[in-house]
Amino acid sequence: MRVQTMPDRQQQLGDTSPEEFRKQLHELADWIADFRENLGTLPVAPNDKPGAILAALPAKPPEEGELFEEILADVDQLLIPGMVHWSHPMFLGYFGWTTTAPAILGEIITAPLNVNAMTWRTCPAATELETLVVDWIRQWMQLPQEFGGVVYDTASVGVMHALAVAREEAAPSVRKLGLVGAGAPVFRIYASEQAHSSAEKAAIALGLGEGNVQRVPTDAHFCMDASALRETITRDTRNNYKPLAVIATVGTTSTASIDPVSEIAKMCRDNKMWLHIDGAYGAGFAILPENKLLTSGWSEADSIVVNPHKSLFVPLDFSVLYVRGLERLRRVFTLVPEYLRGDTVEAQKNYMDYGIQLGRRFRALKAWVIFRSFGRDGMAARLREFVRLANVLGQWIKSDDRFELAAPVSMGVVCFRFNVGDENKSDQFNSEIVERINASGRAYLTQTKLSGGTVMRVGLGNVLTTEDHLRKAWEMICQTASELNREK
Ligand SMILES: Cc1ncc(COP(=O)(O)O)c(C=O)c1O
Repeated sequence: MRVQTMPDRQQQLGDTSPEEFRKQLHELADWIADFRENLGTLPVAPNDKPGAILAALPAKPPEEGELFEEILADVDQLLIPGMVHWSHPMFLGYFGWTTTAPAILGEIITAPLNVNAMTWRTCPAATELETLVVDWIRQWMQLPQEFGGVVYDTASVGVMHALAVAREEAAPSVRKLGLVGAGAPVFRIYASEQAHSSAEKAAIALGLGEGNVQRVPTDAHFCMDASALRETITRDTRNNYKPLAVIATVGTTSTASIDPVSEIAKMCRDNKMWLHIDGAYGAGFAILPENKLLTSGWSEADSIVVNPHKSLFVPLDFSVLYVRGLERLRRVFTLVPEYLRGDTVEAQKNYMDYGIQLGRRFRALKAWVIFRSFGRDGMAARLREFVRLANVLGQWIKSDDRFELAAPVSMGVVCFRFNVGDENKSDQFNSEIVERINASGRAYLTQTKLSGGTVMRVGLGNVLTTEDHLRKAWEMICQTASELNREK
């Protein structure tokens, strides 16, 4: 077989030749398998100054084509060392991460298909597979059949769409006339102090005003205080605000705490408010039958978001928004321009009608590959292992009196603090432990603030993380804390 040289390639139009492409794919398959096998030996995170990677890359765009081998060599030499490796077994930041072999295979199959799933007609298989996997997740989450879903990139986009429907139902014609034209009142949205900032982002995007997102205090376990919510709604109503929606979180970003959804649902019913459940992280844990209680009150929600890219092993990005009666979402966003009309006939569902986006990737395929490869049982077993590991770490923390848990261990999340003995120095001390460990490239943790104080945070969610890895990370935390103590 003759290997193509650059001059050959420059002379031809069209794509890489089939023989050369096959050869590149085989090389890439080895590259991926090697990467995955050796990942644990790489530094988890770089320790470069901002701009270092950019400085190593040519600023001028390429005039002539380059060989794939040269490009892949630059990935190895310039990009891989500049990455935080979220799939690394010692990556314990955020909620852990969801890279798995079936997920990589799913992404690879999707790449050559590269369809646009905007309408049913533009790719029936993509539309129908999306409907199927969204319904599989619904069944796993034990949501009633009246909930229909749509796949977006992120939960932030999901909550924005949900609140757009809430806004339209509370002030019909906003879609057509805008807030002022429709004579809309000043709406208020409620979310706990621990809820994600996507609530404010949605309010900004929808013209509701970030200041109209009212943060409700939480209890000692960082769950929304239902009586504080009731008081806030009463006060707002008295002051002529119009309570629009409550965002209840199942698995908050810092501590994975769970708001009292059933109680909140009752308040929403009494006050004719929209109930959105932010289950971006936590809702995936409903696939565990022992978590039946987790889903209490969900069937009363108007919308619920879950990020399988956080807890159900699908790689970024894949987030599902469910609405009780998906038609409510369609009514707000359907708009068919003439140039698409021909492609919308005959369809049961055109996903472009269910949001802002027109062009849509075939995201359902990767989810389908993973769900079939692991089955619910396989995913549940892995989630149980994350929960087990989180509790193991919780026990280590409890049995070392230099440390304390800063929140109850919930799902795969552990928040804790080193007791410095001097409250004024505590924040900086805990923050420095995390920064030193992350700079070492040997593990990666995050930090957050709870009750005004900085705490360390570990998220278990990587299939490659074992108890040995966790033990190493714990030893590193203890050792770094001792070193810092000696230096102070
Ligand atoms: C509870 C919660 N909601 C929403 C989000 C936003 O998720 P996304 O990045 O998918 O927009 C996050 C992100 O961590 C989260 O923790």
